Amino acid sequence: MAKIDALAYIVAQSTDVAKWKHYAEQVLGMSTSEAPGGGLYLKMDERDYRIAVLPGSEDRYHASGWQVADQAGFDAAVGALKNAGVDVAAGSDEEKAFRKVTDLAVFTDAAGNRHEVSYGYTGGQSDFVSPIGVSGFKTGDMGMGHTVLPALPFDETEKLFTDVLGFRVSDEFSMQFAPDAPVMRMHFLHCNGRHHSLALGEMPNPAGCIHIMVEVNSKEEVDAAHERMEANNVKLMATMGQHENDLMTSFYMMTPGNFALEFGFGGRVIDHETWETTQGEKVSIWGHDFSVGFQ
Ligand SMILES: [Fe+2]
Repeated sequence: MAKIDALAYIVAQSTDVAKWKHYAEQVLGMSTSEAPGGGLYLKMDERDYRIAVLPGSEDRYHASGWQVADQAGFDAAVGALKNAGVDVAAGSDEEKAFRKVTDLAVFTDAAGNRHEVSYGYTGGQSDFVSPIGVSGFKTGDMGMGHTVLPALPFDETEKLFTDVLGFRVSDEFSMQFAPDAPVMRMHFLHCNGRHHSLALGEMPNPAGCIHIMVEVNSKEEVDAAHERMEANNVKLMATMGQHENDLMTSFYMMTPGNFALEFGFGGRVIDHETWETTQGEKVSIWGHDFSVGFQ
């Protein structure tokens, strides 16, 4: 079995990269730089980027970038995927240069989500300086945050991560939007100390991602981001609240990629080796009214 270390980055596709630049700098408080081919890098820690934007024909999520430790880990991941019958493509030189990695492999899960496995970050290392004074984002060994992906068919998609790529299930939750609506599962998976780096939802999503999450250092910085969202007329997708499973205090807003972004702080850190799967009973301890996203 392979061992994924962290969610290194995510990639969005955009019809208007300038919208992402404004959103990154003025709403998220990240700094930006130009990426090859008219793309954009969003910097939130010492790396050159943790979110990359590729020019394209749609505004949507493009890929989740999973980091392994070294070439041995990379070979193990590619081998495990191939053994499981997954088509794995070698990343092109252009893709490796854009992602700033030593080697890159690309595959698609059963639900059609694109994933990239890489090792050996080759980009720069410099202090993060927010254009609007955000003190920093929590990344490091726990990766850039988390991503929540549509997963239909659910079981087959989940098995790829748990049985082939070494993820473990942090929490299992089932929800019903209405009393007569079908029960949909949401499973939260960990690959390091972050409670979940990946969650899978038993639902379709036209933008290819249900939400991503980035984490700051204090409630004050979450409140400040909420004010910037309002000032920039960004759509609120869920009100402030605190999740029951990872204890994150956060709110959700739309991105220019047509997927949501959870902006939070205070996420639980778990022991990857000993954590036992919990059964979630409710989404949040308080708050998180998702109905605002449908208005
Ligand atoms: Fe989340």
